[in-house]
Amino acid sequence: MTAVGIDAIEIRTGKLRLDLAETFAPAKNEDPSKYTKGIGIEYSSLPDVYEDIVTMGANAAKALFDRKGLSPDDIGRIDVATESAFDNSKPVSTYIAGCLESVYDGDFHHANKGERKFACLSGTQSIDDAYNWIRAGRNRGRAALVIATDTALYERGDPGEATQGAGAVAMLIDSEPDIVALSTEQGYGSADETDFLKPNQQFPSVDGKRSIQVYLARMREALEDYESAAGDTHPEDFAYFPFHTPYPGMVRKAALLGYRHITRDTDVEEALAAEIGMQPREADFDSREAYEEAIRTYMDDLKGTSRYQEWYDRAIDPTVDISGQVGNWYTGSVHLARLSALRAAAEEGVDLAGGHLLVGSYGSGAQAEIHAETVREGWRAAVAPIDVEDQLNGRYDLSFEEYELVHDVHNHDKEVEVEAFTQPDGEFVFTGWGRMNERR
Ligand code: HMG
Repeated sequence: MTAVGIDAIEIRTGKLRLDLAETFAPAKNEDPSKYTKGIGIEYSSLPDVYEDIVTMGANAAKALFDRKGLSPDDIGRIDVATESAFDNSKPVSTYIAGCLESVYDGDFHHANKGERKFACLSGTQSIDDAYNWIRAGRNRGRAALVIATDTALYERGDPGEATQGAGAVAMLIDSEPDIVALSTEQGYGSADETDFLKPNQQFPSVDGKRSIQVYLARMREALEDYESAAGDTHPEDFAYFPFHTPYPGMVRKAALLGYRHITRDTDVEEALAAEIGMQPREADFDSREAYEEAIRTYMDDLKGTSRYQEWYDRAIDPTVDISGQVGNWYTGSVHLARLSALRAAAEEGVDLAGGHLLVGSYGSGAQAEIHAETVREGWRAAVAPIDVEDQLNGRYDLSFEEYELVHDVHNHDKEVEVEAFTQPDGEFVFTGWGRMNERR
């Protein structure tokens, strides 16, 4: 069967950054370690006044076109995943296609365009759509452009403010891809939830503590559903486990639960049992409360074992590196997690070709999806040139007062004029609602 998956990736971060320890924590009268250690985010990326989801998406897509030498004729569909859309009718992909048409020969008249929404999950859903389109043989030799782009902003004063971020990930989905091929097996966990939502409002209404529980519950269901199709998962089957990363602390919780699940009834559980005892089985307890208490104790013990720590350091920690430098990119977040792991492997000279990733995507509302990916021969050459460090190091450091101005500029309910903090550098820039984005 033809392999289908991700052939190329480019990112575009918002060009400003907020230092959570140095700038945000003092203004909020909080211990900086709450953000850098507890939540796990050092900096949030934010868009300059001339950036928005269209410019970030178009700039990432242009970098991808330039590196791969693409023209509009090579692309048969453009799907944008976002939960920050500003137009209830015209999809963001048409705005981005317009930007690209202004700089390349040819146009996208032949291309199917759309906008996908399911909170942070829709980037993966757009990849799935592209995968199915190619597998069905409807692509006529063309590739799909998937762009996940968001400005993840919360009301000022909301606890979610510490997890903000802004950026875009552009991905080329094609047959015989250079980076990863997707598994046909997928698992889902889906339920009608109201812990995070934006009904006719720009900033989310969030029940933060509950959102953590919903994330964990849907991920567990998706893992069980995936295993019902693909067979049991073992910790050593996968080089990395890139998961949706609203903030690294969330992934720490998911990893511990996931590890408990995938070591159940395996050689690893046997080895662990010698150290911390067998995992509690519900049938052995008189009440649900007693069972849950035993689980909590087991999890605390599990976290302290060197076997768990070694697995976490190898398979999880490299996935949250970029996230800790940029915050939550919503639809782009899980795709940053994959990129983060692949770049760490490239830097360390790890031979990943033929290895596997278990990718866990999640969107509030709520749905989790889990699938596997096989790393392709061309992965290193495809990810090494991506200018992640240059972009992250090139961001402008905001003072807290500047941050508040930037937050107001991107608040659609306010009309605030602020000078840009950086200069456009041959890129698409936002020039006003209803107008075409220009390149400057
Ligand atoms: P909070 O209540 O301000 O923080 O908000 P906290 O008091 O829970 O502290 C956070 C962590 O820091 C805790 O760790 C503390 O112990 C620790 P935990 O107990 O959870 O392991 N801590 C410290 N550590 C070291 N030194 C210290 C210190 N102080 C505290 N001095 C919350 C946290 C995540 C709730 C908030 O930021 C929030 O509401 N965020 C937005 C919602 C969110 O991201 N939810 C995640 C799951 S839902 C999801 O992923 C979907 C999403 O991406 C949207 C979509 O799909 O579209 C959000």
